[in-house]
Amino acid sequence: MKNILLLLLTLSLFSCKTEEKKEQITTGSESVSEGEVSNLTPAQKTGQEIFDGKGNCFTCHKPEQKSIGPSIQEIAKIYKEKNGDIPTFLKGKGKPIVDPSQYEVMKTNFYITKNFSDEELKAVEEYILSHAP
Ligand code: HEC
Repeated sequence: MKNILLLLLTLSLFSCKTEEKKEQITTGSESVSEGEVSNLTPAQKTGQEIFDGKGNCFTCHKPEQKSIGPSIQEIAKIYKEKNGDIPTFLKGKGKPIVDPSQYEVMKTNFYITKNFSDEELKAVEEYILSHAP
């Protein structure tokens, strides 16, 4: 709840500057940070569509703050540092390196990600890694 308030506050501050009050507010709290990552490559964009769409990953992974799962930024940071392989993980063939204690929760998604093509998995990986700080 606190986060949403903060978000709204940031939004309204921002909209005062740009005079686009109505438009800013109607974008809602969920899509706010997407505006920041608008320069995506085609693969990253496909990844985003899967992530926010049929993958339903967005429910548990927000760009910058931890919710049910770690933030996308956190995942990107650790996968870059450790040179991890996201497609392998999403096929259920890897080991968790971000938050192993919560692995059981993430595992429930493999029945979805196992049906993704290699190309789709790669796109999701590129989208996630584009959030590395
Ligand atoms: C029900 C909530 C939930 C959903 C939906 C979800 N995740 Fe997760 N995810 C988690 C949790 C909790 C973790 C932390 C456990 C872990 O690290 O394995 C996690 C961890 C991860 C990790 C890091 C794994 C590691 O090495 O530790 C990746 C990558 C990931 N999720 C990708 C995805 C993608 C892609 C989707 C959509 C297809 C998705 N998640 C959907 C809850 C979820």
